[in-house]
Amino acid sequence: MAATSKLLLSDQVASGMKNVPSNYIRSISDRPNLTDVHISSSDSSIPLIDLQGLHGPDRSHIIKQIGQACQSDGFFQVKNHGIPEAMINNMLRIAKEFFKLPEEERLKNYSDDPSKTTRLSTSFNVKTEQVSNWRDFLRLHCYPLQDHLHQWPQNPPSFREDVGEYCTRVRGLVLRLLEAISESLGLQADHIAKCLGKHGQHMALNYYPPCPQPELTYGLPGHTDPNLITILLQDDVPGLQVLRNGKWLAVNPIPNTFIVNIGDQMQVLSNDRYKSVLHRAVVNSNKERISIPTFYCPSPDAVIGPAKHLTLDHPAVYRSFTYAEYYQKFWDRGLATECCLDLFKAD
Ligand code: OGA
Ligand code: NI
Repeated sequence: MAATSKLLLSDQVASGMKNVPSNYIRSISDRPNLTDVHISSSDSSIPLIDLQGLHGPDRSHIIKQIGQACQSDGFFQVKNHGIPEAMINNMLRIAKEFFKLPEEERLKNYSDDPSKTTRLSTSFNVKTEQVSNWRDFLRLHCYPLQDHLHQWPQNPPSFREDVGEYCTRVRGLVLRLLEAISESLGLQADHIAKCLGKHGQHMALNYYPPCPQPELTYGLPGHTDPNLITILLQDDVPGLQVLRNGKWLAVNPIPNTFIVNIGDQMQVLSNDRYKSVLHRAVVNSNKERISIPTFYCPSPDAVIGPAKHLTLDHPAVYRSFTYAEYYQKFWDRGLATECCLDLFKAD
């Protein structure tokens, strides 16, 4: 029992294992089937959009590209996004350092209560799930920064300062993208930002240890993101897969780019024009992997529904609801493949 008495997966793995423990093993019909995955080349991957000219004469062209990607893939990558390479590399380094801290140091942050705004945990929701996922994660709320900073880890020593600066820069990128996405839908540039109440920003530092039998389990099984829009930073180890035309597509990491994906709230606001697409994280037998998603979201009291302007030709697909109501449903039901959105359809 020594291995399983560890709270975190990384510490179980570090104490040695030849096989995946039984609580991580998926039923045969629910395994990742890693040989049936499309490996993307630069041509077949999700669109890569250069944001260089977003505030210049190319704006309308770039907005068109963004709108097209939101509609057809629900995912795109961005380069020349304005966040310095040194800050990106530093963020990845700090995440790695955090997960290498001694067990007792990391465990100071441990909680299995999803309502806690700063917490280290493992898998997805250990209180409710049947099968575990091959992941440890640190979750942080990060907007408004000063409301949360005092709860964050102080080790590594520069954690609060460096991660705080990163959050602020990523928020700036999100706000620019929200203007572009609003315009791509034919809405006023500030339309989406105005729907979000006081706004919210969460982040996860995901740590996926090497896995002795990656064909039996997931880092994260297929899911859509419940928030508005996600900005994912990943290291150079592949693992993210996106569903396209019924097939899983492996997205190869490109240094110094972010992956952007549409979340459930954007699908609602756009009245189904833009798609919150299923994606998953798989693991591998020889390399650990770090990914750092920023989840931008409405504040809990914000009322979300399809934009009026987009219900003129097409009746509203969804009823209005508060983000708090949606988010509660998401955590309660776990990462089920059927999207949570179906529970909020208009009658
Ligand atoms: C997520 C997610 C993908 C990854 O945290 O919601 O989809 O590659 N992560 O870690
Ligand atoms: Ni996700």
